Amino acid sequence: MKNILVTGGAGFIGSAFVRHMVERYPDYNIVCFDKLTYAGNIDNLLPVDDAENYRFERGDIADRATVSRALRDYCVDTVVNFAAESHVDRSILDPDAFIHTDVVGAYILLDEGRKHGIERFCQVSTDEVYGDIDIGLSLEDDRFLPNSPYAASKAAGELMARAYCVTYGMDIVITRGSNTYGPYQYPEKLVPFFATEAIDHRPLPLYGDGEQIRDWLYVDDHARGVDCVLHFGVSGEAYNLAGENQRANIDVTTRILELLGKPASLIRHVPDREGHDRRYAMSAEKARALGWRRQFDFDAGLEATVRWYQDNEWWWRKIKTGEYLEYYKRQYAERLAAQA
Ligand code: NAD
Ligand code: TYD
Repeated sequence: MKNILVTGGAGFIGSAFVRHMVERYPDYNIVCFDKLTYAGNIDNLLPVDDAENYRFERGDIADRATVSRALRDYCVDTVVNFAAESHVDRSILDPDAFIHTDVVGAYILLDEGRKHGIERFCQVSTDEVYGDIDIGLSLEDDRFLPNSPYAASKAAGELMARAYCVTYGMDIVITRGSNTYGPYQYPEKLVPFFATEAIDHRPLPLYGDGEQIRDWLYVDDHARGVDCVLHFGVSGEAYNLAGENQRANIDVTTRILELLGKPASLIRHVPDREGHDRRYAMSAEKARALGWRRQFDFDAGLEATVRWYQDNEWWWRKIKTGEYLEYYKRQYAERLAAQA
């Protein structure tokens, strides 16, 4: 392993992975390949900008010619695919881009990787492929029951990776991370959205009763988990990267408000997300056996995260303009009016 192409490396988790790999492995060349969609942000990579073992290449994983050129020009031997459309609410409003990137893009990347003789391919997937789980923990061999267009598109990308491993003998590993939070997360997801809205003393639109449960994983733990699976995972296997920090949305929201010294009256219970999964929870045993352990518990991780958004308004204020405001209006205007 020497020349690693990290697709989607300008996004939230991908950039944490790039920052981690550039620092931890000075002998590897890390190439970030990213389309820079609304969620891609070159500011996320400022900490590694001057590193000698880091390069950035703008491109779309669904564009075969550009992918092929990047694999050849950088003599890539390893691909880690973070590139995705990643927000469930946007997938409900408009699934097209999810099929383009999460399904077709994943396929093109696999297919070009095979032609270029890639030695290892890591497909970054999600706990959402298992769908809603009432009780217990999802295990890697459980069946897929994705419920949102996002989850279905990720399941399709992951199944194509499996097929390329079985059919063509490609060396492929898969990670399934749980809900991730931390610095540099686009402020449409629960934690950064609510933290930045609360800082501005604006209403927090909590879907339905707010009793839905997610298992929260700090972003640096997710990045280290992908590193561990990339190096030690068995080809053809998937590994859950579970935070083992299950929390109800209402509790996460209340804690964010407490950390910011804001009143609970900012919470607005708005009409629920369509097809909203009540609970995700996975077992982390299999990844643990590879040597991965999460280091952050939720209380410490959430506090560090909320402080980061307090201290880094330069990063998120410029995002919360233009397209972001159009999306906000589309997603929340009617919902907030309905409960008012
Ligand atoms: P993100 O939305 O913050 O970043 C996605 C990145 O992919 C952006 O930089 C974007 O520009 C890039 N991208 C999108 N389409 C592209 C394309 N066609 N070609 C090249 N680049 C493209 O997402 P994230 O939260 O960092 O998630 C990263 C990966 O981890 C995704 O595959 C996601 O499914 C998975 N995941 C996320 C979570 C989570 O809680 N955020 C949990 C588990 C798994
Ligand atoms: P999100 O961060 O979008 O992640 P995911 O849908 O992938 O789990 O949402 C986390 C939880 O928070 C989910 O149950 C939906 C809920 N949520 C709200 O209640 N209100 C919101 O405005 C958002 C964005 C999410």
